[in-house]
Amino acid sequence: MKILRKHNNTVEVLTLPGDAELERGDFLIASEGSMALLLQVIDMEYADIPGVLEDLLREISIESINESRLFDPFNISSLTMIIRDSRIILTKIRAVIENGKLSMNKVWMPSRFTAKLERISVNNVLSMLGARTNIPIFVGRTGDEELYIDAIELEGKLSIITGKKESGKSHLAKILSTELAANGGTVVVLDINGEYVNLGRYKSGTTNPLNDKIVVLEPGKNFKVGISDVELSILLDILEHVYGTPTTSLREFARIWNTLKNRGLISSHELMQAVNRFQINEAVREALLSRLLSLINSGFFIDGEGDGLIDIFSRHNDGLLLVINLSKSTPQLRRVVVEYLLSRLNTLLFSNVIRPIFLFAEEAHLYLRNTYWEDLVTRMRHIGISPIFITNQPDTVPEMIYRQADNIFLFNFTNDADLEALAKYSHLDSDTIKKISPYLQRGQALLVGRVVHGIPVVVNVRDSEFNMMGTTKLFFKAKQTI
Ligand SMILES: Nc1ncnc2c1ncn2[C@@H]1O[C@H](COP(=O)(O)OP(=O)(O)O)[C@@H](O)[C@H]1O
Ligand SMILES: [Mg+2]
Repeated sequence: MKILRKHNNTVEVLTLPGDAELERGDFLIASEGSMALLLQVIDMEYADIPGVLEDLLREISIESINESRLFDPFNISSLTMIIRDSRIILTKIRAVIENGKLSMNKVWMPSRFTAKLERISVNNVLSMLGARTNIPIFVGRTGDEELYIDAIELEGKLSIITGKKESGKSHLAKILSTELAANGGTVVVLDINGEYVNLGRYKSGTTNPLNDKIVVLEPGKNFKVGISDVELSILLDILEHVYGTPTTSLREFARIWNTLKNRGLISSHELMQAVNRFQINEAVREALLSRLLSLINSGFFIDGEGDGLIDIFSRHNDGLLLVINLSKSTPQLRRVVVEYLLSRLNTLLFSNVIRPIFLFAEEAHLYLRNTYWEDLVTRMRHIGISPIFITNQPDTVPEMIYRQADNIFLFNFTNDADLEALAKYSHLDSDTIKKISPYLQRGQALLVGRVVHGIPVVVNVRDSEFNMMGTTKLFFKAKQTI
């Protein structure tokens, strides 16, 4: 292997067949003395050799007349064959290595003629960075090595898991969430497809050790909120943002609520009655009644007290995976539940009643109102929510989120528009994204950011012995798995 040329951050490396079996994402070092350049493979091309077109044409014509090799007593053709078959490996400069230490902002070039090029494993690169994993999470393999990331690099950070449908995003999210809970972390999952509900079981169906740490809540079933304990501000937020209630009606509602509250406990019946009875504008009355009715009919707000959350959190001090199963909720109820939950978690975290949490949000744009995105990554992150957004539509996540992301787990995308959207925001150069992402297989991801100490790494996400499937509603599939 030899360095052919460099422009900007890209270095072209010339290789002959059999030099090294390289894949996208692999690392090379080009060393000279005590210095070296760390390169990452992003693409491969055929070398543009003069006369190759003629050679190819000759080859085709020989094949077509079905003649064997040309007369070649000195076996020159094998040498020319090798030369004709040489490749150019496109690489990106990731760092300069000086005496075994990596530096990302140094500029140095090795000699094209004397530099020694060889492959280097991901873990060797990471150890040169001085990477230590305090709380290791086994995510998968790179080549024949295992790759561990540090749970600490997810905490207090903003992470995004993205890729097209069926590329392996949720699978990774399940591995991360179960590992975090197993290590004692508190994890909340907004589970839009009901696919995290069986994580307490092995694939065989028997329960696994994580089962004790898993709580699955379904709104309206085992997750209900006593209306007399709900804070007025949460209800106002729900009425405003989910039900689009006008400000005048909200003001009247607050007045009615406070009057009832002063008298004691509130029930849904009393609330409806009061709205019926109070002296208010008829249009306002209508607006409030229809919305309250819908809220009460959802089965999420009931007469009584509490929501059971504090109890759940305090019973699982050594790790909790709280799955909010939103798969059976209507889009409107989903938004009500998320609005309530975020607000409630916020209060509990702010008053130190619960420990910091990891929040896994699948396809958050379906239930998260616009103003919450920013709130989550700024204020809420500081009081102890570490968000992990999972999406197959990168353009539904606001630009600001990408710009602030500490970690990106990028799976396969083939669509140019998606790749373009990602390339625009993320910390990684657009070349790397566009050249690597379309070639990733299912279960393969490019990790970028803190978890890999700033050096992008391609990983084959591992499988798990846990049951990663929800309860399927498919008839033929269900038959197959029996
Ligand atoms: N690393 C992996 N190892 C084994 N199976 C995987 C892996 N990644 C994904 N799968 C399987 O591929 C399918 C799609 O993965 P999933 O994570 O649900 O995709 P996505 O959430 O991106 O739509 C699932 O059946 C899942 O179990
Ligand atoms: Mg998914």
